[in-house]
Amino acid sequence: MSRIIRIFDTTLRDGEQSPGASMNVDEKLALAKQLARLGVDIIEAGFAISSPGDFESIRRIGGEVEGPVICSLARAKEADIKRAWEALKDIPRKRLHTFHSTSEIHLKHQFRIDQAEALKRSVEMVKLAKSLIDDVEFSAMDATRTDAAYLAEVLEAVIDAGAGTVNIPDTVGYTTPEEFGRFIKTVKDRVKNIDKAVISVHCHNDLGMAVANSLAAVLNGAGQVECTINGIGERAGNCSMEEVVMALKTRKDFYGADTNIATEEIMRSSRLVTKITGIPVQPNKAIVGANAFAHESGIHQDGLLKERSTYEIMRPETVGLVKTHLVLGKHSGRHAFRTRLKDLGYEMSEDDLNKAFERFKHLADQKKEVFDEDLEAIVSDEMQQIAEIYALRSLKAESGTGITPTAVVEMDVNGKIVKQTGSGDGPVDAVYRTISEITGTKSRLEAYLVKGITGGTDALGEVTVKVEEEGKKVAGHGADTDIIVASAKAYVNALNKLEYWKKGRAK
Ligand code: KIV
Ligand code: ZN
Repeated sequence: MSRIIRIFDTTLRDGEQSPGASMNVDEKLALAKQLARLGVDIIEAGFAISSPGDFESIRRIGGEVEGPVICSLARAKEADIKRAWEALKDIPRKRLHTFHSTSEIHLKHQFRIDQAEALKRSVEMVKLAKSLIDDVEFSAMDATRTDAAYLAEVLEAVIDAGAGTVNIPDTVGYTTPEEFGRFIKTVKDRVKNIDKAVISVHCHNDLGMAVANSLAAVLNGAGQVECTINGIGERAGNCSMEEVVMALKTRKDFYGADTNIATEEIMRSSRLVTKITGIPVQPNKAIVGANAFAHESGIHQDGLLKERSTYEIMRPETVGLVKTHLVLGKHSGRHAFRTRLKDLGYEMSEDDLNKAFERFKHLADQKKEVFDEDLEAIVSDEMQQIAEIYALRSLKAESGTGITPTAVVEMDVNGKIVKQTGSGDGPVDAVYRTISEITGTKSRLEAYLVKGITGGTDALGEVTVKVEEEGKKVAGHGADTDIIVASAKAYVNALNKLEYWKKGRAK
């Protein structure tokens, strides 16, 4: 029997620390629901004291998401721990994750305290957390640059104080697999009461070794891996969840360990993270990259046709890359639509379902075949809709050789219909300039990404934009068979998110 390694997902906390990856409460909730379907053991839903949005996200996720343990981060400070407790207290399965730096570099230059003081603070705060919540995790920040004897002393003391999980972060992504494996073994050997706690690891990817380091830790006794979907996170990111999970599953023979992850949900989770954050996945990324299962070489294709195992170590279906099947056509009814969505794992309110069904009918009129991926695009669009200040009513764009690209855009702005004409460097530019004029926005377009969802020229085009205003970055998303319309929808979606953020800030 394989050991089961706990998957502690921190996409909503460390992942959100990726530049430009901030998510609003509704987006975090949608992602948390997907993480629950994916089967992660723990969701780090936020850092309660860091912002009202994080506080609210933890409470809402805890109230609406069943399955995983819901966790809040807190520095080893009384105010942090009390705030985390406030956010967590009504949640049935909860964890408080507190941390303090332990390395000489951090203690000397950042905290200006000595080792004894850091130890004292860590123990006191773990005791406080334990008096409030049974499940307490302690992280020794910058552990991999900490003297091993001191680290062992801290870990022993916090376990005595009630920590059930002790996390060993490679905060700056400095360690290497061999070294980290030995380090974990040393911790195991030196910390006398280590059998009373789960060893966790949390690796950053600055040298591109976060996954390898985490796996080396598993080989040496770690029972929990902290990671994020698509490996997003602070700087170069965190250990990629899909990579570590699939490495354990595919090489169970070597690691003797597995996870509780429903791997068929991996692709959908990855796409949702891209959609919400606007951070694309590189095509050659392991497991979830567009080319991860694409075989280009003739020799490989020949081998695959004869026997898949010649060049395929994992089946694409295992990570949810199902052969796209034709699901519905223009004559399909609401019942078939709802049933297919349910099979795909989507449960929607009646209202959202009706709106999605309308869009499906419209799409089925334009496109002969509607695939699962098309449905997912429509549905996740509907599920992510937020209160709309701006709505696109109609759009006409003209472009071509030798003419100035122009756009006529009609929008609903706070209940008032406004129509305007504009021009630009291309049709998308003309549309965006006109929308900016209509809405009076001061935002700046930072990124624009277009992707065909299924093959063929009648495919749904999916556009993701990143828009910035006053330092706040949001991702907007839109899908349509016409990419100019999809572009407009994505931009309007982003502007609505900015308005939503401004409203929250004004409260
Ligand atoms: O990288 C790190 O050390 C962290 C801790 C808060 C666990 O994110
Ligand atoms: Zn981190």
